[in-house]
Amino acid sequence: MNREHEYRVCLKRPHPQQERFLRSKAKRKIIRAGRRSGKTTGVAIMAVEYFLDGKRVLYAAPTSEQFAQFWKEVKSALAVLIDAGVFYKNETEHTIERTGTNQCIRAKTAWNADTLRGDYADLLILDEWQLMDETAWNDVGSPMLLDNNGNAVFIYTPPSLHSQEQSKARDPRHGAKMFARIVEEQEADTKEGRIPRSEAFHFRSHDNPHISSEALKDITKDMTHLSYRLEILAEDINEAPGALWTRILIDNARVSNYPTLARVVVGVDPPGGATECGIVVAGIGQCLCKGKPELHAFVLQDRSLKDVPDKWAKEAVAGYKTFNADRVIAEKNFGGDMVESTIRPVDPSVSFKNVTASHGKAVRAEPVSALYEQGKVHHVGPMDVLENEMVSWLPLLSNWSPNRMDALVWVLTELMLGQGAYEAASASSEDFEEPKHRSIWDYGSERWRNRPRIERPGGSVWDPDSDMGREAADRGRELFGWS
Ligand SMILES: Nc1ncnc2c1ncn2[C@@H]1O[C@H](COP(=O)(O)OP(=O)(O)OP(=O)(O)O)[C@@H](O)[C@H]1O
Ligand SMILES: [Mg+2]
Repeated sequence: MNREHEYRVCLKRPHPQQERFLRSKAKRKIIRAGRRSGKTTGVAIMAVEYFLDGKRVLYAAPTSEQFAQFWKEVKSALAVLIDAGVFYKNETEHTIERTGTNQCIRAKTAWNADTLRGDYADLLILDEWQLMDETAWNDVGSPMLLDNNGNAVFIYTPPSLHSQEQSKARDPRHGAKMFARIVEEQEADTKEGRIPRSEAFHFRSHDNPHISSEALKDITKDMTHLSYRLEILAEDINEAPGALWTRILIDNARVSNYPTLARVVVGVDPPGGATECGIVVAGIGQCLCKGKPELHAFVLQDRSLKDVPDKWAKEAVAGYKTFNADRVIAEKNFGGDMVESTIRPVDPSVSFKNVTASHGKAVRAEPVSALYEQGKVHHVGPMDVLENEMVSWLPLLSNWSPNRMDALVWVLTELMLGQGAYEAASASSEDFEEPKHRSIWDYGSERWRNRPRIERPGGSVWDPDSDMGREAADRGRELFGWS
C-alpha cells in the first residue's frame, strides 16, 4: 500500500487566474502578471502537483526573495509527508525528494546559463524571467528538458526602469518579446484547430483576492503612472508616452553597416553611486540614405557597464582603440575631472575633452532627439538596453539616471551639433579646446587638412581632399555654417 495516501498535502486553493495557468495543457507557458498577483504561489502549487505525480521539478529565480517564497510554499504544502519521512528535505541543496527516485523539487537562485546548469527536469520554472539573462533558456533550460520532453513556465512582471537596474537581461524586453511570440503561436494553433503547444497568460495585481487593498495601496503609493501600468496592470509598454525618442524613429533609421567615418568620439557618462557607466561610441560620415550625401551620425557601440572605475576606464579606452577614435568626451561631474583622471592611468595618450553640464538632461537631449526626427542618426545594429533607456526616460518625470542615454547625448552633441549648440547646453565653455568663433567641425581648416588618413573598421578612408571630402565640407558649410 502506498503510505502517502494516508497524509494530507496542504495546498493553497488557486485563485481563478492561477487556476487558468495550472489547468492549461500547454508545454510552454508564459505568465505576465502584476506584482503580488500570486505568480510564485501559483507555480509553487504547480510544482507540488507535478512532484506528487512522480515528476522532477526545477524552480529558478534570480532573487532570494522569490526563491524564499517558493521554497516556503512547497515545504509547507509537503510538511506532513516530510515529517513522516515519506519525502526527504535537504535545506542546503533546497531539494525535496523521494529517496532513490528521480521524483524531486529543487529550488535555486539562477540568473544566467552558468547558474542554471547541472540538472534536468520534467518541469522547469523560471520566475522573474525578465531579470534573467535570456541565453539561460536556449543554452541550458531548453536542453535540460529534452530527455523527458519536459514543460517550461516563464513568469514575469513588465519591468519598470527602476527594476531593470537589477537585471541581468541582455535585452530588457526579452520577456515581452517572448510573450508576443507565444501569443502568435497560440493564435496560429487555435486557428488551425490544434491544441496550443504554448500559451500566454496575463493578469493584474488586483486579480489576487488574497492581497488586501491596503497592501496594494502601500506598494503603489510612490509609483509613477507608467510604473503602475507596468508593474500592477502588467502591461507590456513598448515605450513611454512622452519620451524623447520612439522605437519606430530608431528602428527606421537602423543600418547594418556604416560609411567611411570622418570622426569618431567615445562618450562617457560616469556612474553616480551604484549605477552604470555610460560608454557610447559614435562617428560621423557622409550618408546617402536620402539620395544625396549628407553628414549623418552612426552610433557604433554601446559599451556601458556597471563596474569599478578601472574596469569602465579600460572599456572606454578599448572602444577608443577599436574604432580608432579621435577623442573621449565626458562630463565633469561632482568629482571634478574624475573621468579623465580614471582614464589617464589606463592610457595616457587618449585625447580627452571635458564638458560641463549646467542645463538639465532634457535640455541637452532635446536637440539630439530632433536629429533623430530629421533622420540624421543611425544605429548600427541593435542596441537594446540603450534604446530602452531612450524610449523610457521621461523629461521632468523620471527620477532615475539614464547613463547610457547621457553618454549618447554627449557624443552626438559633440559630433553633430557643433560648438555653438554645445555651448547653449553648457554653462561653462572654458573646457573647449577650439576657439569660440570656429566650429569644431571646421573641415576647411589647416588642422583638418593636415589630419592623417585614418583607417577604420567597416569603412574606407575619408579623405578631405577627395570629391566626397569636398562635398562633406560644402555640406558642412550649408548645415552648420562652417567658414
Ligand atoms: N491561492 C492563494 N491563496 C492564498 N494566498 C495566496 C494565493 N496566491 C497568492 N497568495 C498570497 O498573495 C501574496 C502574493 O503572492 P505571491 O508572492 O505568490 O505573488 P507574486 O506575484 O509572486 O509576488 P511578487 O510580485 O512579489 O513576486 C502572498 O502573501 C501569498 O501568500
Ligand atoms: Mg513572486
